[in-house]
Amino acid sequence: MTEATKTVCVRHEAAEAFVATLLQASGVSKQNAEIVARGLVQADLRGVESHGINRMPSYLARIQNGVLDPTAEPTIKQVTPVVAQVDGNNGFGFPAAHLAMETAIAMARTFGIGMVSVKHSNHFGMSAWIVRQAVDAGMMSLVFTNSSPALPVWGGKSQLVGVSPIACGAPGGEDSIPFILDMAPSVAARGKIHKALRRGDKIPTDWALDGEGHPTDDPEEALKGVMLPMGGPKGSALAIMMDVFSGVLSGSAFAGGVTGPYDMSKPGDVGHFIIALRPDLFVSLDDFRQRMDVLYQRVVGSDKMAGVDRIYFPGEIEQLTERRRRKDGIPFVQSEIDALNTEAKKLGVAGLQVVP
Ligand SMILES: NC(=O)c1ccc[n+]([C@@H]2O[C@H](COP(=O)([O-])OP(=O)(O)OC[C@H]3O[C@@H](n4cnc5c(N)ncnc54)[C@H](O)[C@@H]3O)[C@@H](O)[C@H]2O)c1
Repeated sequence: MTEATKTVCVRHEAAEAFVATLLQASGVSKQNAEIVARGLVQADLRGVESHGINRMPSYLARIQNGVLDPTAEPTIKQVTPVVAQVDGNNGFGFPAAHLAMETAIAMARTFGIGMVSVKHSNHFGMSAWIVRQAVDAGMMSLVFTNSSPALPVWGGKSQLVGVSPIACGAPGGEDSIPFILDMAPSVAARGKIHKALRRGDKIPTDWALDGEGHPTDDPEEALKGVMLPMGGPKGSALAIMMDVFSGVLSGSAFAGGVTGPYDMSKPGDVGHFIIALRPDLFVSLDDFRQRMDVLYQRVVGSDKMAGVDRIYFPGEIEQLTERRRRKDGIPFVQSEIDALNTEAKKLGVAGLQVVP
């Protein structure tokens, strides 16, 4: 282990305060800075480090390059009693998605369902934090987004559709945890390749092809090539589905037109699609919760295949990681802390506090 790859620990409260300070020093309002900070730190807490606070240097570079407006506020237009449209106005994707889910939840409380489309937004990180917003309000949800080209369509050889995550959730019962599915339609999220690059790790050879179309375990080479869709044509079809609902429908960019968070040439123009619905529409809430308990117990109690010690419900591994990290802190490698502190220095704010 070198000095750069040494592991250090950070408390989630310190990480949130640090990110919010960096953002406010860059012109973001306190309220929006706190929403972004919570979303990013929730990813680190859940073990989704590919979408955590390490995204800050690239997000800040977008502000400094004038392609993301730190002062933008998302605006909302009611379309029908159960449908609304948010315009992200090229601000951070987090406040736009947060407003969209808040509005969808309010409509669902009154009418059973709320649907919100978001246009002219940016990367919103890990989808699960928006699903959590709905779960915390006792709602079921669908959370879709599109993203910049990273995957070929099935049969193609160049990047066209995004590694756009599909996420959904439902509250659990007395003896179960919430169902939270959050998955990219690729074998692995592209952020995991960026993470391996940052940490000096190799990647599995089934994640991506290099620029010449060969499997590679080198994250740098993988980023020059294409990600591989999960399940062949099915993964590529799911990525197209994210583009239909988040891009075509919303009025935002689509069909390869979204700009990635690491591309400083122009605004992201990302689209999202968010639905919240009440779980007591067809059965009583008590009944729903009991049925979730049955489902959970049946899933985790399934007969295990050889070599498997425990079966997890979708979102359960992340929930267990979060519980641990809230108590013990979040591990980072020193080079990641250094990169964040370089940003802090540039903005004249205090560095990230690590656990001694
Ligand atoms: N905003 C964007 O543009 C963007 C793009 C790509 C990915 N992402 C984010 O990247 C993250 C990682 O995506 P991913 O596809 O690599 O996730 P992943 O493969 O780690 O997990 C996918 C899903 O499978 C479940 N799961 C994983 N292992 C399991 C097991 N052993 N048993 C039961 N369930 C299990 C997880 O709970 C999760 O719901 C997501 O949070 C996603 O939102 C965001």
